[in-house]
Amino acid sequence: MAAEAVSAPRLSIEFRTSPNSRIDVDKRDFIRTLGSASLGVMFSPGLLARYSAMPYERIAEDEAFWRTIRGKYRLTPDYINLENGYYSMQAEPVLDAFIGHVRSINVQASRYMRTRQPDDKLRVRTRLAKMAGVSPEELIITRNTTESLDTVINGFDWQPGDEAVMAEQDYGAMLDMFKLQARRRGIVNRVVSLPLDPRSDDEIVQLYANAITPRTRLLMVGHMVNITGHILPVRAISDMAHARGVEVMTDGAHAFAQLAFNIPDLGCDYYGASLHKWLGTPLGAGILYVKQDRIAKLWPIYADMGMADRDIRKLNHTGTHPVHTDLGIENAIDFHEAIGIERKEARLRYLQQYWTKQVRGVKNIIVNTPSDPKRSCAIANVGVANMKPGDLAKTLMDRYKVFTVAIDGANVHGVRVTPQLFTTPQELDAFVRALKEIAA
Ligand SMILES: Cc1ncc(COP(=O)(O)O)c(C=O)c1O
Repeated sequence: MAAEAVSAPRLSIEFRTSPNSRIDVDKRDFIRTLGSASLGVMFSPGLLARYSAMPYERIAEDEAFWRTIRGKYRLTPDYINLENGYYSMQAEPVLDAFIGHVRSINVQASRYMRTRQPDDKLRVRTRLAKMAGVSPEELIITRNTTESLDTVINGFDWQPGDEAVMAEQDYGAMLDMFKLQARRRGIVNRVVSLPLDPRSDDEIVQLYANAITPRTRLLMVGHMVNITGHILPVRAISDMAHARGVEVMTDGAHAFAQLAFNIPDLGCDYYGASLHKWLGTPLGAGILYVKQDRIAKLWPIYADMGMADRDIRKLNHTGTHPVHTDLGIENAIDFHEAIGIERKEARLRYLQQYWTKQVRGVKNIIVNTPSDPKRSCAIANVGVANMKPGDLAKTLMDRYKVFTVAIDGANVHGVRVTPQLFTTPQELDAFVRALKEIAA
């Protein structure tokens, strides 16, 4: 759809805890959020009516809409950032609010910690639980996916000879935690290798099923493989594993706030995600979901004898931590919900398809991401024949000012390309031109 001129719609939101604002100890002012955030605060009533009625696939291509969103970010002019998968910047309104929280808490210090902090944390936790479609009693705020999933892996009462199943394309920190359990407790890790372009869900399910034995207790599955962007059929894998008496832990580092879903729809027992990737929170925020009836048997890493075995907060005793980050999560949720997860997912998939369609089948260019659009969203991986991924990433950055990240292992050789909501088709055109030049 052609981009249209719009009269500079503005986000009419002011955070009362912006850096220069008065410190107000009234709770309603102290935790300022976007309140009734919706597209209504970003667009004029006429535009809002149009956008609200527009199907997600059409809005995904509406450059005027996304220019407005792009205007909420402060971007560097020095290079095109196509590596938004590690840590994705906060939108300016979220960042302003976060800085306000840092300043406010600095003034109130221990008084804040002793009086308001527990209530605030519960409120943010409850909002995250709502976003995930779970009970607040099944979810805690962590620092990141590593903390969330390693808490589960380490919390199992492993016996020598117990087995776990995972994929070589899973994230290194979790693979290492399983290796540590093998060394310390004598468990056996069975590692499958995922195909780059599966023919069906069943092919993937069978791969995991073949690795299960009567000794298997836990299966780890990525919701979205971080090095290729491959979305795995978690529900089907969970159902297959449960039928064999195996519990399922899902790595949602890249899926949460990128894809529209509820955790219970996936059927897994444990789910961990980072919020500083796709929710755009301040750095150092994550979630851990543990299904209610799985909580009691997990051993915490840090003891908290005041908590009942069935209370998920027993897993959350990490001491004094940057609580202003927890408050920033709420502002990030407001911004995220103002756009809407379905619009976000549709736009991110559109951007990825926009560039991969132009290079699939081009001589010397190898796309390492499934060809079925349903099996990927923002992230894709591309390599050039006879070129080391590290050299490709360096050439893209040095010669073309395009920032990506090299992936060279686990059967994946290329650069990972991760656009964000602020990425434009023109930036992707520049990347495609560079890639074709290099491949030629
Ligand atoms: C699939 C996956 N799992 C886990 C992690 C770890 O995330 P964090 O460093 O936020 O703990 C990452 C980070 O990129 C990831 O891609």
